[in-house]
Amino acid sequence: MPSQLSQIRRLISSLPRTSLISLPTPLNRVDRMSAELGLDLWIKRDDLTGIGCGGNKLRKLEFIVAQARENGIDTLLTTGGAQSNHARLTAAVAARLGMSCELYLNAEPISAREGNLLLDTLFGAAIHFCGITDYSVINDRMASRVEELERAGHKALAVPLGGATGPGTLGYVVAFAELHEQLAAMGRNGPLTVVVSGGTGSTAAGLLVGAALLAPQTRLLVVSASWDEDKLKHAIRSCALEASQVLGVAAPAADRLIVSDRHVGPGYAQTSEEGIAAVLRVARSEGILLDTTYTGKAMSGLIASAECGTLNSDGPTVFLHTGGTPDVFTRRWPVR
Ligand SMILES: Cc1ncc(COP(=O)(O)O)c(C=O)c1O
Repeated sequence: MPSQLSQIRRLISSLPRTSLISLPTPLNRVDRMSAELGLDLWIKRDDLTGIGCGGNKLRKLEFIVAQARENGIDTLLTTGGAQSNHARLTAAVAARLGMSCELYLNAEPISAREGNLLLDTLFGAAIHFCGITDYSVINDRMASRVEELERAGHKALAVPLGGATGPGTLGYVVAFAELHEQLAAMGRNGPLTVVVSGGTGSTAAGLLVGAALLAPQTRLLVVSASWDEDKLKHAIRSCALEASQVLGVAAPAADRLIVSDRHVGPGYAQTSEEGIAAVLRVARSEGILLDTTYTGKAMSGLIASAECGTLNSDGPTVFLHTGGTPDVFTRRWPVR
């Protein structure tokens, strides 16, 4: 659909966007796992997005910070868990653009600096531990801090959890268009299945909007890292609606959207046995690192679906690697 593609490109290029990533990210075929699982399996390497150790949040931040810069923002605030990838990448982007960054983490105070917490510090962010609480409490705290900074002559923006905003979600409409072009260039025109991890649902929502516009036969399997199926599906649909409104297109149908919460394991950011097994399998058969909070669990969902025959083998399956790899340095691993 070249005319659809150029229409999306035109729409998106009229919106403010700060270039942070070298695009396109690689699309690697994983031959050994393809053979083992009976799939034409590819990994879209959004862990290789260039700055701050990479990850999906950079595509969202390209749109979020562009608007912030137009509004003269000099300080970015955001929130997430103790090992938040979004917080780490917001800190890296703030450093890159000469802004200050304050992180309000949903965690009890931690003195050790490892994984993303270490990187937050290296990127110069100020870290505040808010205790384990509801995000509405942290959002209120960030809103008061924004007012305080503004009274002191600064301009500050509180970026929501996971960068899940309408403009942020556009980052993954662009990513779907990029993937669609890469597959077409390789002659992979069969029905596409995309598998992705779901946190706030904004990444999946962008893919859903892109797929509805460019390749409506696409199946999207979203493997939850945290929320139950209903909550995540609802979040994906509302982010998709917001992004569609920004673009001025109809909200996408969700009949080819499958959301699974069967691979969360003991809970968000807690390792699951099958997630660990998936990380080790991809590391040892492809030399690619996943993480245990998001992508390892998503890959365990992909493997389980392939093994019970619910993934299509008559078209490509693309696993979106959303990053998160600093996580592996915070875990204990079986040495064998
Ligand atoms: C590595 C990684 N993968 C996936 C996700 C989920 O993305 P979203 O919040 O857009 O669903 C996150 C969110 O924090 C993440 O850090």
